[in-house]
Amino acid sequence: MTLNLDRTQQENMNASRSFPTGFLFGAATAAYQIEGAAFEDGRTASIWDAFARVPGAVINADNGDVACDHYHRYRDDVALMKELGLDTYRFSTSWSRVRPDGGALNPKGVDFYERLVDELLGAGIIPWLTLYHWDLPQVIEDRGGWTLRETADRFTEYALDMHDALGDRVHHWTTLNEPWCSSFLSYTAGIHAPGRFDIGDGMLAAHHLLLGHGQTVAALRERDSSLSLGITLNLTVAEPADPADAADVDAARRIDGQFNRWFLDPIFRAAYPGDIVADIEKVDAAAVERWRDAVRPGDETIIAQPLDALGVNYYHGEFVGGRPDPNPPTPGDAPTDRKTGSPWPAGHDIYWHERGLPRTSMHWEVQPAGLTQLLERVWTEYAQPVGTILYVTENGAAYDDELVEVDGEKSVPDAERTEFLRVHLGAILDAQEAGVDVRGYFYWSLLDNFEWAWGYEKRFGIVHVDYHTQERTLKDSAKEYRRVIADRAIDV
Ligand code: NOJ
Repeated sequence: MTLNLDRTQQENMNASRSFPTGFLFGAATAAYQIEGAAFEDGRTASIWDAFARVPGAVINADNGDVACDHYHRYRDDVALMKELGLDTYRFSTSWSRVRPDGGALNPKGVDFYERLVDELLGAGIIPWLTLYHWDLPQVIEDRGGWTLRETADRFTEYALDMHDALGDRVHHWTTLNEPWCSSFLSYTAGIHAPGRFDIGDGMLAAHHLLLGHGQTVAALRERDSSLSLGITLNLTVAEPADPADAADVDAARRIDGQFNRWFLDPIFRAAYPGDIVADIEKVDAAAVERWRDAVRPGDETIIAQPLDALGVNYYHGEFVGGRPDPNPPTPGDAPTDRKTGSPWPAGHDIYWHERGLPRTSMHWEVQPAGLTQLLERVWTEYAQPVGTILYVTENGAAYDDELVEVDGEKSVPDAERTEFLRVHLGAILDAQEAGVDVRGYFYWSLLDNFEWAWGYEKRFGIVHVDYHTQERTLKDSAKEYRRVIADRAIDV
């Protein structure tokens, strides 16, 4: 049958693209970035409480003592989520609230998460729980932190405590958020807590995080095989500045190896990427030897547990070369005025090149096509063969938002973020059309919040937070997201 449509009818038909039934629209946060109440109800310091007090570690010496005061305002925040129509909400639990001394349980800490989950369920919002979003109890760091194997065991115990409390109400469990950040960025580059500068420490941390992930998945699966279990990784697309230049191609290989394959390969293939091990060995053979001693026979099998869900956090791609760009990108604001190292143990000669894409206030490129490319690659090479479903568990942008007030009505006209959201949702639809099974999207973040070493300067939220009054204001992007969720479609 041929349809005879006039131009307007055709335009209307083409004016939107719909998401499949069941696709989950969500927003994400993390405990230390929003909760505040840092020393209330028995919570003790995490490595971020301690690190934020290191002079120069965080811009403006900001810390998470109060943050968005979500600990006291969670009911209002859940009401906001409901107003936006979110299907799901991704949050993390704070280990040092739940097990303040790294050991015994703190019932008051657990109670907060019970109340939060009940509030979410009451609002018809699916809780998506992450167990570790970087806030290791400081007492555990004092013993050696993630460089110690026993920390993986402490993590599993804490996870099982959370399951005791919430296993009857929470279906989606994520072990770790972005272990690259909590290992190499934290233990090798010193940019994140605990601020160490050692290649071997980064490698050990990454291994013990992955071990903790694997044994926790196994333990949770044994308790309840109906849970949806997964991990969230920060993944990227690395492209050589000149695909015909061997040094550029090699720089892209090393970024891909250290960011993506260092985590995807052990998780999905029970093996670390040999090329990257060899690269690091050239830089620091002693570090690799320490790491080889730490990786015990059988560890890789423990790490490679079958997963229901892989969370993909995507912000931007990497356009790199083996030599400096004659017109290099403008560097972003330094996150810290301390000495820092490189998070790329095998890549000191990696140089970022400029390709003229728009950038956010983090100086990150806006590159939605990279998300499609990444999802297709992760799906075909890793997830599809073992039946793991993909979710975009973070994607978002910081811009220099302006709160305006007209006739007592406050608003934030964040056109760039609104467009960022639209084109990245479009990139997910493109991936679906290419056959990728990606079933959800979580905007980062629901609220403006403590952006780690950048403190409160960078605003990623679709909801503006006035840190003096704690007033929340929906940005234009939130209103547009609400419309997208209601229509289950984006404009094209
Ligand atoms: C990734 C992290 O998971 C989150 O905590 C952070 O705020 C965002 N990226 C933005 O940098």
